[in-house]
Amino acid sequence: MTDRTVARELARRSLGRGDPSGWFDELYARAEREPEIVPWANGVPNPLLVDWTPRRFESRPRSAALVVGCGYGDDAEWLASRGYAVTAFDVSSTAITAARRRFPRSSVDYRVADVLDPPASWTGAFDLVVESFTLQVLPPPVRARAADRIAGFAKRCLLLISRARDPGAPPGPLPWPLTRPEVEAIAGRTPGLAIVSFEDFVDHETPPVRRFRVEFARR
Ligand SMILES: C[S@@+](CC[C@H](N)C(=O)[O-])C[C@H]1O[C@@H](n2cnc3c(N)ncnc32)[C@H](O)[C@@H]1O
Repeated sequence: MTDRTVARELARRSLGRGDPSGWFDELYARAEREPEIVPWANGVPNPLLVDWTPRRFESRPRSAALVVGCGYGDDAEWLASRGYAVTAFDVSSTAITAARRRFPRSSVDYRVADVLDPPASWTGAFDLVVESFTLQVLPPPVRARAADRIAGFAKRCLLLISRARDPGAPPGPLPWPLTRPEVEAIAGRTPGLAIVSFEDFVDHETPPVRRFRVEFARR
């Protein structure tokens, strides 16, 4: 069973200071000594990305991909292994240092960056943008701003993977599942972006988790 005790406590204090992203580097720094405290780090690429990649979007030679909130880099490395020219970023410098350490011969361009204040050159620059599990750890007002930035990075395709809940259901403790209207609003606010596939399902984890896997395309 994943223990989210430390993550939730650091998040509570960080949000109390009005800093929605500050706790991530605190968590990763502490995880240098206690690796088990990062709830999402399991050392393998997200199976919902692995399953999607060949089915939906085979890379053309050196298509550019961006991985949002890449953490320790497993999803970025997966896309690089499929032939993408991958940029991967995280707000935590400790996570980025750890990703570079884990994959010393990687072709991935790992960067420290804040999704709320990204390099201007990233706008519309990536054939594929992958966002998995980052929006769900940002509180709602910040989440909408981050989602708009993420949508803006995509030249052709955006893949979003998250926990899911009904609109009326309480979000519960962190991570806070997204709602369908919340996801649909991303396309609504982004000119030229449309949802081409919306999967709403219960996964095979123990216990099972309701997820969204949503593919957006830029027309
Ligand atoms: C729940 S983790 C998910 C990590 C990875 N995407 C995965 O699926 O395992 C969220 C990640 O987003 C990063 N993050 C949080 N706020 C961010 C921000 N403002 N800009 C960039 N990355 C951020 C965190 O440091 C963390 O690595």
